[in-house]
Amino acid sequence: MSIESVSRESRVFPPPASFSERAHLKTREEYEAMYQRSIEDRDGFWREQAEAFHWFEAPETICEWTPPHAKWFVGGKTNLAYNCLDRHLGTRGNKAAIIWEGEDGEVITLTYRQLHRDVCRAANAMEKLGVGAGDRVGIYMGMVPEAAVIMLACARIGAIHTVIFGGFAADAIRDRLNDAEAKLVVTQDGAWRRGKVIPLKAQVDKAITDCPTVKHTLVVKRAQNEIDMEPGRDKWWHDMMAVVSGKHEAPALDSEHPLFILYTSGTTGKPKGVLHTTGGYMVGTTLTSKYVFDLRDEDVYWCTADVGWITGHSYIVYGPLSNGATALMYEGAPNHPDEGRFWEMIERHGVTIFYTAPTAIRAFIKWGERWPMEHDLTSLRLLGTVGEPINPEAWIWYRNVIGRGECPIVDTWWQTETGGMMLTPIPGVTPTKPGSCTLPFFGVSPKILREDGTEAEANEGGLLVIDQPWPSMLRTVWGDDERFRQQYFSKFEGKYFTGDGARRDEDGYFWVMGRVDDVVNVSGHRLGTAEVESALVGHKAVAEAAVVGRPDELTGQSLVAFVTLKGGFSGGDALKAELIDQVGQEIGKFARPSDVRFADGLPKTRSGKIMRRLLKQLAAGVTDLGDTTTLEDASVLDKLRQ
Ligand code: PRX
Repeated sequence: MSIESVSRESRVFPPPASFSERAHLKTREEYEAMYQRSIEDRDGFWREQAEAFHWFEAPETICEWTPPHAKWFVGGKTNLAYNCLDRHLGTRGNKAAIIWEGEDGEVITLTYRQLHRDVCRAANAMEKLGVGAGDRVGIYMGMVPEAAVIMLACARIGAIHTVIFGGFAADAIRDRLNDAEAKLVVTQDGAWRRGKVIPLKAQVDKAITDCPTVKHTLVVKRAQNEIDMEPGRDKWWHDMMAVVSGKHEAPALDSEHPLFILYTSGTTGKPKGVLHTTGGYMVGTTLTSKYVFDLRDEDVYWCTADVGWITGHSYIVYGPLSNGATALMYEGAPNHPDEGRFWEMIERHGVTIFYTAPTAIRAFIKWGERWPMEHDLTSLRLLGTVGEPINPEAWIWYRNVIGRGECPIVDTWWQTETGGMMLTPIPGVTPTKPGSCTLPFFGVSPKILREDGTEAEANEGGLLVIDQPWPSMLRTVWGDDERFRQQYFSKFEGKYFTGDGARRDEDGYFWVMGRVDDVVNVSGHRLGTAEVESALVGHKAVAEAAVVGRPDELTGQSLVAFVTLKGGFSGGDALKAELIDQVGQEIGKFARPSDVRFADGLPKTRSGKIMRRLLKQLAAGVTDLGDTTTLEDASVLDKLRQ
């Protein structure tokens, strides 16, 4: 059975001519020609793209594909840190690589030369601690420059990093470190968040009492909070960095040398360690950064993600640096000291490209236009989003209020598993439609399939599948190749199943409807909840909405909407009726929620995704909600329960 798409969004925004004229890619014809080539002559296309990088030994075979296993740039020897740093020293040595801003306002600029020196030192320091190629290194840090330094240092020596988001607590850290069998953990005394110190080292101490493989910790001093240092095991970063050389020769690593493991929560069971390798990830993230952000040397590029997520890996650290770009990195919260922080920073640093998540945009909308209005945002030339379907109203707000109606928006669809962007506009080329991630990137072959494996018609919702390998794809699940096969390649033999529902419209544009686990069946209509949410958020009172199904005797499932309101509005029966009516008007009577519940906040993961599983249970009246450790703010649930 297919998934019914009820979105009726039809606005189209062509790229401004002034943008296209100066862009890397300027016309639809250019994109089409490159795209066709990338599909029809895959190896030829990628061989040419790979020539832009430094290879100690050139690849022999471009792609070996024995589903579900792919190898890219086989026989090639390279080094990702070399390509991000050493390669630029001759031409951009004194250019800012990372501009870092602390929550307290301190700013540190690291030029390519300085970053190179620090990465070399960190590489030497790790080698001194007995860490070498293939060893696993846990990184549990906040958004400090040392986090990027240590990631690059791992890439340099061939150690496999696994960054554990700084919001996770001891149990989650322990499970990840043990699954990866990490030898070293890099952390900091504490991290700043909304003016408070989050004690990171203390969490690591707790976790590693149960991690037999961990031999050392390396601790960055950031918050000056009191911590325990176990002699022999724990080392201060500044002590180690002071006694090692700033020179380090990057070794030639195999293209398929493992680069990092990043854990992503599955819907059930223990987190999956998604494994990415060197050459393919390098080429994929570099090329997407270049064309999707249209990166130029004079840009100040800001991605607001945390390095603990794939977006931080691919689009704060590796992709931008490999392009020789200047990336802004911010330590703290978006509303500290007030809700104008981001806009104040954009103005002060002259940010030209801004990449954030729909959940953040909805928060900006809730906080109100007055915050961005107080600042001069005219330096911005391009906006991006990632992480969830963006509802058209938020898209339009982003375009008008942040982008002055002039900046193209790139709505980029991708996953931890894909390593880099997959479905995305090219900003100088692709006319955009609010809520659509538009067209495939080079080398990406997406299909919308029905359950039986046949292809869906235009506008018929189905399952989003990628049927050809691409360079930055995950290689396996760490330590569990069978789970890799089962999870991603068993639904449709030999094809990568994304887990998302989507449709492709009459222009070939993709509209992602969310995880298929969230599809609700109301009276035989299978609906992606994102579209109903979008209809709700279209109402002037609504800041954010999450719609889930609950069992219903009459209709199979019925929809329950959880709604948070913008400042100045309060919930009540009248508004409830208005919202239900709004969905009826926009989508159809069958999609009207049977209940609307007003809330102060919605339960979210630490990466900002709404935890619909919990809402489903609440809607169905389940009292034991199971594992809630990935929740960002547990108090939200208590309020919803009342
Ligand atoms: O459901 C899609 C949604 O986020 C999922 C991937 O999550 P994660 O691995 O945490 O990576 C997030 C950052 C790449 C996808 O399966 N998603 C991500 N981007 C979009 C999106 N849904 C719609 N539109 C997007 N632009």
